[in-house]
Order: sequence, then C-alpha cells, then structure tokens
Amino acid sequence: MSAFGAWLLSWAQSAEFYTEFHERAVEAVGQQETRDWLDVGCGPGLLSRLAARRGYAVTGVDISRHMIDAARSLSAGNETYIVRGLDGLVAEGAKASVVSASSLLVVIPNPELVLGQLERLVRPGGLLLVIEAGNGFNWRTGVRALFDGRIRGRLQFLVWLFVRSGRTVDESLFRREKRPFRKIELLEGMAAAWILKSADAR
Ligand SMILES: C[S@@+](CC[C@H](N)C(=O)[O-])C[C@H]1O[C@@H](n2cnc3c(N)ncnc32)[C@H](O)[C@@H]1O
Repeated sequence: MSAFGAWLLSWAQSAEFYTEFHERAVEAVGQQETRDWLDVGCGPGLLSRLAARRGYAVTGVDISRHMIDAARSLSAGNETYIVRGLDGLVAEGAKASVVSASSLLVVIPNPELVLGQLERLVRPGGLLLVIEAGNGFNWRTGVRALFDGRIRGRLQFLVWLFVRSGRTVDESLFRREKRPFRKIELLEGMAAAWILKSADAR
C-alpha cells in the first residue's frame, strides 16, 4: 500500500459513519477479563484507537509500513504499532485475548485460510472480532442511504461505496455449522461485526 493509499484510508476513517460503526463493534466486544488486543491489518489505526480508549492494551499490526506510519501519527500514544504480516504473527505464535480484523478479509485472496489464521491468534477464552461490509452493501442500498440523509460523512461514504461495493466477503464464511459466529448488524445492515468466542484451551 502506498503513502497515498494510507492517506486516503486515514481520511475515510475520519468520517463519522466509519468511526460510529467501528465504535459499535468495540462496544459489542465489551470488557473482557484479559485486556490485550491485537488488531490485524490495522491500517491507520482507527479500531486500535477505539479499543485503547476502552482500556485495552492494543497492538496494531499491518503489513504496510505506510499504514503503520499513519497509525503512529494519529495515535495519542496509547497503542503500539508494528509492521508485520499475518503469516509472521502466526509463525511467531503471537496470542491475544481479543483479535480483530476490520476490512482485512476483503483484500486478501483466501479469506477462509486467513480466518483460520486469525482464530489461531486468539487465546483460550478470548474473542475474535471481524468487521466487514455485508451482503447488504451495494450501490442501491448505499445510494438510498446517502439520499435519505442518514450518512454522516457523505463524501467519504461515496468513496467507500465506489471502492467497496461489489467487493464483499461471502457471509457463509461465518455461518459454518460448528461454532458459528455471532452477527451484529452495523450501518443499517451494510456492514457487520462477526464475533467468535474461543472456548477451548489449545
Ligand atoms: C482495507 S484496509 C483496512 C484497514 C483498517 N483495518 C480499516 O478497517 O480501515 C486492509 C489493511 O490490511 C493490510 N493487510 C493486507 N494484508 C495483510 C496481511 N497479510 N497482514 C497484515 N496486514 C495486511 C493492508 O496493508 C491494509 O492496511
């Protein structure tokens, strides 16, 4: 990801609608007993900052140095950011009580494989939080929400719609028979938080 990409995403993340739906996802996680949080593919760090504000000790990781530079520059100093890919984290045996990934599955070629890797990072009893635009996100629903005046940060939303519409993660990935994820609808169903509680000791 280029420096321009990091700047563009920082700008998109500053929109009220984007902040609000990530805030709701953090609320859904609530207060876990152990308070370390690993945000994978953190980009410019919005989700990491929101989790840190709730008292979590957050490490944001991203494969792009430009994203990590942007996250560091936007941080009030409460999170740690490191340049690292998901493969590297798995190889190191990294673990956290809350592992999150927002808009990560949509940018990688094999979401199923990556979901499995993310699960492996979660400590026993911890949580995996995945945030993605949902199957209900398309030009029709997006444009309707824009014209109804329900979106705060309309320009950023339009860019998000342009970039992401038609590029969503298939929700069946989270609805598997054994241990399905809990779904929390966000942004009027245009996005969703998917939460998986890890019960078993590994
Ligand atoms: C669409 S952005 C989402 C950023 C942020 N989480 C958000 O919700 O706005 C996807 C991010 O994932 C990062 N990424 C892609 N593949 C990755 C990998 N294998 N390991 C870690 N980060 C990765 C990209 O560099 C990018 O910053």
